[in-house]
Amino acid sequence: MTEFRDDFLWGGAVAAHQLEGGWQAGGKGVSLADVMTAGDNDTAREITDGVLPGRNYPNHTAIDFYGNYRDDVKLFAELGLKCFRTSIAWTRIFPNGDEAEPNEAGLKFYDDLFDDLLKYHIEPVITLSHFEMPYHLVTEYGGWRNRKLIDFFVKFATVVFKRYQHKVKYWMTFNEINNQTGLNEWGLFTNSGILVKSGEDAEKAMYQAGHYESVASALAVQIGHQINPNFQIGAMFAMGPTYPATPAPADVMKAERAMQANYWFADVQCKGKYPSWLQRYFERKNFDLDLTLADLDVIKAGTVDYIGFSYYASHVIKADANEPVDFMTPMANHEVKNPALTRSDWGWEIDPMGLRYALNWFSDRYDLPLFIVENGLGAFDKKDADGQINDDYRIDYLRQHIAQMKLAVTIDGVDLMGYTPWGFIDLVSAGTGQMDKRYGLIYVDKNDAGEGTLKRGKKASFNWYQHVIKTNGADLD
Ligand code: BG6
Repeated sequence: MTEFRDDFLWGGAVAAHQLEGGWQAGGKGVSLADVMTAGDNDTAREITDGVLPGRNYPNHTAIDFYGNYRDDVKLFAELGLKCFRTSIAWTRIFPNGDEAEPNEAGLKFYDDLFDDLLKYHIEPVITLSHFEMPYHLVTEYGGWRNRKLIDFFVKFATVVFKRYQHKVKYWMTFNEINNQTGLNEWGLFTNSGILVKSGEDAEKAMYQAGHYESVASALAVQIGHQINPNFQIGAMFAMGPTYPATPAPADVMKAERAMQANYWFADVQCKGKYPSWLQRYFERKNFDLDLTLADLDVIKAGTVDYIGFSYYASHVIKADANEPVDFMTPMANHEVKNPALTRSDWGWEIDPMGLRYALNWFSDRYDLPLFIVENGLGAFDKKDADGQINDDYRIDYLRQHIAQMKLAVTIDGVDLMGYTPWGFIDLVSAGTGQMDKRYGLIYVDKNDAGEGTLKRGKKASFNWYQHVIKTNGADLD
């Protein structure tokens, strides 16, 4: 007996700006990702004032999927993928974001890519906005702090929904829309195109942007369903369960508040309404957001069909004796290490059971089908003497997570649609801009300095995952 449904979407996940390259090809405009420099674990990526000479912008060339996609898709077919999750670069379709007409060359690129995938029976799973947007919308409109962004996004969504309505069934509106709740400047900027101005209330800006994005997402869901009622349009959240550091009630309440603060986006997108605690919070903080009754109707009518989420790690939180437990400060101010877990090379806590916890948490709370659209281990890979990469650590990570996912399905009855490991082909890290933070089952010969042949190669995890897919997850050995 196999545990996963027959149409289970085994796949792999990437995002346009992290693998395509071709940053100016086919009339593409400059995106937010194109003005982000490379960093590393100790050095934050910098967002420069436009593209400056002499700086290293890793997303400009990435792994040149733009030029190589036909060969890459062949390899994906050999891996046995049933689906391929990527995003559409907004700047290929609307280079500046505010044009009256879309860019035909950009539309054609995705037509060709989707045709190629479908030729191999690989279902495209498409995110509309994955951590990027036309840079012009940032400089000229202030990013998502401006209501006009709703119209630009809805136009972009409508164009691609219409164009690919017979090629793409599975969509997601915003990648990790809740990633900005940490209130750190970097996250806020890339998710919403907002660089916090001096004196600006970053928290208020985040809620305002999050509200406009929620309205834009709900409108896109409604329009998508009108264009093709068979569309499955999901939300996408970063899931990192937050556990209390101790059984002390203040820690438990702090953890609960952290979860609420992180998943109010899910309440809005899945239940179609703001949670009561957040309404009170807006009042208490006198935020006076631009949030109309008409917006609330849109949100109510535009709930999603499924929940897509990423899962890499869990977190542990400790209350601060000097502030109320419901005080909302960046998670980082309260996070402590989990003594029960080990960490990745980049310090991310490895918690396979947390994935089962997450699946149960979403399922109980929203009663919607779930789709794990990112999971994986970012690690330094080393070639053996014979040039092979025996990434047992990655196989082990994936195996343990899939085993927990299986328990969630068989024992807990969670309705799980699919699983797409992140960066299954090496690509540019979103957080650090590195190439050497590798998640891939497919190796790409390129290093942090941008050197390499870009040649693709199979790691040991490639063969392992191929077998997992072949057995529909029955055999994880
Ligand atoms: C998720 C993003 O946050 O995590 C991806 O959706 C990102 O874009 C992935 O690449 C892994 O993070 P990082 O920083 O290791 O690339």
